[in-house]
Amino acid sequence: MAQVLDVGCGPSKYPGAIGVDMNARTAADVICHLDRGRLPFEDNSFDEIRAVHLIEHVEDVIATMEELHRVARAGGTIFIVTPHYTDLASYTDPTHRRHLSTESFHYFYAGGLHGEEMWYTRARLRELRMHIKLLRLWRLLGFEFLVNHARWFRRFWEYYLSFVIRGKVMEFTFEVVK
Ligand SMILES: C[S@@+](CC[C@H](N)C(=O)[O-])C[C@H]1O[C@@H](n2cnc3c(N)ncnc32)[C@H](O)[C@@H]1O
Repeated sequence: MAQVLDVGCGPSKYPGAIGVDMNARTAADVICHLDRGRLPFEDNSFDEIRAVHLIEHVEDVIATMEELHRVARAGGTIFIVTPHYTDLASYTDPTHRRHLSTESFHYFYAGGLHGEEMWYTRARLRELRMHIKLLRLWRLLGFEFLVNHARWFRRFWEYYLSFVIRGKVMEFTFEVVK
């Protein structure tokens, strides 16, 4: 059976997963504060790792991603959900430390963001899927479709249009490369 880890599980842990959270008043099976130490699991322990609305809360995004990468097995997946930096919710929650873009995880990809190989980290991920939701009006007008179906359009949108045609939430699925 696939071993699933739900990090920052909150009160509604993913069914069948081992839940981790820093807050004991959650559905967590394991209490762990990611900014204060490592996850209490061996390397290569999990087939699937979920971090839904977690990454924007942590102090060190790179260190947290490296921990998720460490406990995932090669070929396993990491599923991340986080607000786009143009979403009001990204700024409303005072515990959000980070405001991320569709390219924030490119530092983990082969080739990096600007061609700098392993600039911040040696942990490697391969993007399997990246989906961004936009505010409802823009979705109804077809912008969400365009942003998700043409990479060049997504770049154009994020560089020139995104503070008007605002984003909502981003979903990433990565394959763990070791
Ligand atoms: C916005 S909630 C999301 C909960 C759940 N994943 C969901 O989508 O409903 C963020 C969760 O991450 C936990 N969290 C935030 N920072 C953390 C950290 N540094 N280490 C461990 N858990 C953390 C919080 O306690 C909280 O339960």
